[in-house]
Amino acid sequence: MSELVRLRWHPANAPGVLHAIEPTAADIELHAAQLAVAYNDPYNAALMGNTEAMTAADVVTHYATMNASGARQFHLFVDDDLVGDADLRDIETGAGAAEFAFMIADRKRQGRGLGTYFALMIHHFAFAPPSEYGVGLERIYAAIVPANTGSRRVFEKLGYRIDDSAAARERADEPSDIVMVIDRATFVAQHQLSELFMAPY
Ligand SMILES: CC(C)(COP(=O)(O)OP(=O)(O)OC[C@H]1O[C@@H](n2cnc3c(N)ncnc32)[C@H](O)[C@@H]1OP(=O)(O)O)[C@@H](O)C(=O)NCCC(=O)NCCS
Repeated sequence: MSELVRLRWHPANAPGVLHAIEPTAADIELHAAQLAVAYNDPYNAALMGNTEAMTAADVVTHYATMNASGARQFHLFVDDDLVGDADLRDIETGAGAAEFAFMIADRKRQGRGLGTYFALMIHHFAFAPPSEYGVGLERIYAAIVPANTGSRRVFEKLGYRIDDSAAARERADEPSDIVMVIDRATFVAQHQLSELFMAPY
């Protein structure tokens, strides 16, 4: 089991201090009901490919199952407010690959830059070496529902490109999904996150 990590960043135009924190079991219990509401929002659910309503207990189970499979999961905060979650899942340590997924919970907070900021933070963590508390990945995939223009735009801003290779298509949940990829060199060349703080929980 990896040591839990937290990230803190305060970009000039952000609405507050941004925190991405790998949650403890107690944190997951605390925020499960709020996340269930966001997962069940019909708009969010359609874009995330969620087909079944989740209770708070389902969210706890979902986090535990993902954790057991080696995923790195984050709660996202602006100051003290939980605004969403994100994860790196299906991590292939040998190939240095994983898949990224994220959600800004409240629709009123979407489309205002938070998803981009948090995606940048988690990618910084994902590509950083373990000696700096990162995962040391080589590439990250994202599988996107075609109607999800907001998500696709975030990935384009990060430097992702569409990937139709067999390895990428394995990441698709549905045949219609678009799969995109970014490698470490591309990300690091485009994004230096000055004053991002990363440390054990
Ligand atoms: C996808 C998501 C995490 C992106 O976070 P966000 O805070 O909305 O993203 P940002 O505001 O940083 O960037 C979104 C970009 O897409 C554009 N956009 C287009 N349609 C949009 C829409 N319906 N919603 C949000 N942004 C949209 C925005 O204008 C922005 O582009 P710009 O910076 O060039 O103006 C968030 O919208 C969300 O949680 N959606 C529901 C769940 C989901 O789709 N998760 C991702 C599954 S892959």
